[in-house]
Amino acid sequence: MVFIVDFKVKDQKLAPQGALLVEWAAKHMPVLAQIRTRFEKEKPLANFTVAACLHVTKETAVLAETLKAAGARVALCGSNPLSTQDEVAAYLATKGINVYAWRDQTTEDYFWCINKVLDYKPQVTLDDGADVVGTLHKERKDILDNVIGGTEETTTGVIRLRAMEQDGALKYPIIAVNDAYTKYLFDNRYGTGQSTIDGILRATSILLAGKYFVIAGYGWCGRGLAMRAKGMGAKVVVTEIDPTKALEAVMDGFNVMPMIEASKIGDVFVTLTGNKSVIRKEHMQKMKDGVIIANSGHFNVEINIPDLEKMSKSMRTLRPNLVEYTLNDGRKLHLLAEGRLVNLAAAEGHPSEVMDMSFANQALSTEYLVKNSGLVTRVYRVPKEIDELVASLKLKALNVEIDELTNEQKKYLATWDAGTI
Ligand SMILES: NC(=O)c1ccc[n+]([C@@H]2O[C@H](COP(=O)([O-])OP(=O)(O)OC[C@H]3O[C@@H](n4cnc5c(N)ncnc54)[C@H](O)[C@@H]3O)[C@@H](O)[C@H]2O)c1
Repeated sequence: MVFIVDFKVKDQKLAPQGALLVEWAAKHMPVLAQIRTRFEKEKPLANFTVAACLHVTKETAVLAETLKAAGARVALCGSNPLSTQDEVAAYLATKGINVYAWRDQTTEDYFWCINKVLDYKPQVTLDDGADVVGTLHKERKDILDNVIGGTEETTTGVIRLRAMEQDGALKYPIIAVNDAYTKYLFDNRYGTGQSTIDGILRATSILLAGKYFVIAGYGWCGRGLAMRAKGMGAKVVVTEIDPTKALEAVMDGFNVMPMIEASKIGDVFVTLTGNKSVIRKEHMQKMKDGVIIANSGHFNVEINIPDLEKMSKSMRTLRPNLVEYTLNDGRKLHLLAEGRLVNLAAAEGHPSEVMDMSFANQALSTEYLVKNSGLVTRVYRVPKEIDELVASLKLKALNVEIDELTNEQKKYLATWDAGTI
């Protein structure tokens, strides 16, 4: 099939720079490379259209090219108004991807792009935050029948989709890529841990050693960030609402306290909860002069920015992604990247090595949906075979070998009558 390529990017002349970025990412994504080689031969997605709403980064470009190599028509938009790498978007446009993405979008631009990719009447959707699924179910019901399934990349999206499933509102099956072990154990933990620090440092260039570093949310992302901040010499404080996670943070050696107490001592604050108004007026009233506040959770609602604006008499941009708010009482609070995902807006998102596994799950789950069309409508975990395959391929790429069960061990693990000898 011949596809006509339409796209909208910031500047097509950036394509050669984008090509170098994508080449660099691809070198660090050996699992996806192996999948692509197979897809090129087997063309499992021939005659399928995929609509993807993902952060348009160099790693996403490698995924988009993998899906195209499988025979799919790929329409791509960004999953955040601030996370698109314009060089990468320009490059993808030269590679036959229908890309609608640029950095610094208004909310209107953002949903225009989502609607553009939906105009391709996709059979499969790839989402990061469930905005495509939301738009399809609310505003584009006319093309819902065409969709056989979708995937979801992040925790927040999975939460939204499970809520839709519970309400009986979900109209097609979704594979929760986020919930694969080879996704959240590495992407959410090591990816967010490292890249959130990267974003904060690029935006501020501060020293972390000796600073009180407050982390809201001790889930997979929060754990990763706490581990890395501690490694940089910061004094880590955790806030939680879940007693088990809070206890885990205590046993991991961190100070745990309510946000209202942490507000009094923190130098740097980062939210990673998937919740809203985690930092709000009552907290900002207690903060010290000069603090830095950032978010690495999916949506820009974790920090109550309207509260901050109401409390401020002026604001100015000091550096890219760093805005100083002067409060009515004279204190200055610094907000990074407009409260959007700091690792993507102020840095480059997760390292390619991590996205290799997340996107291997995306590619294989897309193939699974196409091969198993007719699945009952609900939110599925990534099939175990796919999760294990991704782990095995990654180990192989890292030249790490592991043991195999002997027949005696297999038998032992399958019996119930063996006990104390
Ligand atoms: N920055 C990135 O690149 C990136 C990557 C993966 C996930 N995410 C996003 O990060 C967020 C967290 O993801 P996760 O996988 O760690 O989720 P998770 O469910 O494992 O952890 C979230 C934690 O936040 C806690 N929490 C909820 N409300 C809170 C509150 N008011 N105060 C303190 N803690 C609170 C929960 O108890 C939970 O332990 C989600 O929005 C997810 O989509 C971002």
